[in-house]
Amino acid sequence: LTSERYPNLRRGPYGSLSNSHVNTFERILSSERVLTNEDDVAPYNIDWIKTVCGQSKVVLRPKTTEELSAVMKVCSESRLAVCPQGGNTGLVGGSVPVFDEVVISTSLMNRINSVDGISGTVSCQAGVVLDKLEAALEPEGLMAPYDLGARGSCQIGGNISTCAGGLRLLRYGSMQANTLGIEAVLADGSVLNMMNCLKKDNTGYHLRQLFIGSEGTLGIVTQAVLQCPIRPRSVNLALLSLKKFGDVLSTFALAKRTLSETLSSVEMMDSVCMTSVGNKLGLKCPLQSDSDTFFMVVETHGSREDHDMEKMSCFVQEAMDKGLVVDGITSNEPSRMTNLWQLRERITESLVKDQYVFKYDITLPLPKFYEAVEVLKQKLESFGSDVQVSGFGHVGDGNLHLNVTAPAYSDDLQNAIEPFVFEWTSSVGGSISAEHGMGFKKAKFLKYGKSPEAIRLMRSVKSSMDPLGILNPYKVLPPS
Ligand code: FAD
Ligand code: MLT
Ligand code: ZN
Repeated sequence: LTSERYPNLRRGPYGSLSNSHVNTFERILSSERVLTNEDDVAPYNIDWIKTVCGQSKVVLRPKTTEELSAVMKVCSESRLAVCPQGGNTGLVGGSVPVFDEVVISTSLMNRINSVDGISGTVSCQAGVVLDKLEAALEPEGLMAPYDLGARGSCQIGGNISTCAGGLRLLRYGSMQANTLGIEAVLADGSVLNMMNCLKKDNTGYHLRQLFIGSEGTLGIVTQAVLQCPIRPRSVNLALLSLKKFGDVLSTFALAKRTLSETLSSVEMMDSVCMTSVGNKLGLKCPLQSDSDTFFMVVETHGSREDHDMEKMSCFVQEAMDKGLVVDGITSNEPSRMTNLWQLRERITESLVKDQYVFKYDITLPLPKFYEAVEVLKQKLESFGSDVQVSGFGHVGDGNLHLNVTAPAYSDDLQNAIEPFVFEWTSSVGGSISAEHGMGFKKAKFLKYGKSPEAIRLMRSVKSSMDPLGILNPYKVLPPS
């Protein structure tokens, strides 16, 4: 098997799927949870942004850890490579096969085991979709410790495996901090049960961290326990427009000082992004703007509506008095806030509409944050105005989503961007993957993010946990 799009990549020394494997999988799962029909399998082979396409012939849909364990024993015995898949919203090509890997979908592992309102924890299977988890937490006065625009499709197991960041990491912390317990099926089918519910546990190596952000290359997460904060009783939102990026940083600093303990999100987008959600999705920005305008979304979570609203109004007023913010609106009305959030959350969707997008997800020291867009714009000037560079993202976390859109994919354009963008990011002390992971698309650039010693250690962890290399091959680690 060769992959048309990846002529330089060779399929690993894996077994091939036979009828006898399919029969065995059907015995373990029942036939309706083994998909072999081409049309049924097709969506599992293509990623969300439709830039990576695999050639898998089978999708397995276990419901329980025991079933998944039995499946992995078969795969291990026959050295069949597997690709774990959650909601398939990943943006680095990690969730779809590259060649003919067996797709293991966690979508039917969607049970919420328990919610503990007092200690603030939830235990669930890996395939629970994030907005379903939110709905189960709400009656207990809790919420998930993170939130992303993909909440309607992405799954807890996928979120853990990518170490997803999202819109409120600034306030509630990372997936590493909020995942208390994990159960995972290892490459040989054995089950590692670490379903700890405790906030403190220093019994040696923190093994669960190995599964957070390893993108299905070390094991398949089957269940987890998450720590969940109290759902805020008052939420306030401001959408702001600003003249220059320097004002975005000053406004962020002011927000930290004046909104202090209530601050929950600080997001930014440039005018290319705002124009894109307007033109492609018909979402109207209520603020006046021109082609140089920057926008910010600032949100607070608190417990006293009058106090929080006053704090937000004072912050916006002070930002305007200081000449940092040109225009702004605030709201605490849920449907209005949802509409304002759409202007930020749906940028991803608008950028992929009717065009090709080259996506980069980097962390930068704040003074360098928007320079990345300017530097790349300059570098790509010769490609003409059809090629647009834009920036948006979690400025409160130093995380820029740097996007290049073009009418179609082109090798020339890709070669002009890569490895340039990774070299530049690394040269200014940034990270080449802030929250999306390395997946398939970024694996070969790992050296821009990790030293040779660190990569050696990663390889040694991988070969110790997955000696046959069957778990999500071609992902995260560069070909050796
Ligand atoms: P998938 O895409 O199915 O898989 C992602 C990776 O995890 C793959 O390598 C896969 O093999 C592996 N995997 C999945 N499930 C398991 C499992 N149970 N065990 C082991 N490995 C597994 N990401 C952010 O971090 N922050 C954002 O704000 C954000 N916003 C987004 C907005 C949109 C509109 C979209 C489309 C994506 C966004 N993402 C964001 C990216 C994506 O949603 C996240 O990476 C998410 O965590 C992926 O979850 P998933 O269930 O879709 O995983
Ligand atoms: C976001 O924050 O919206 C995402 O991580 C998605 C993207 O980068 O496009
Ligand atoms: Zn993001």
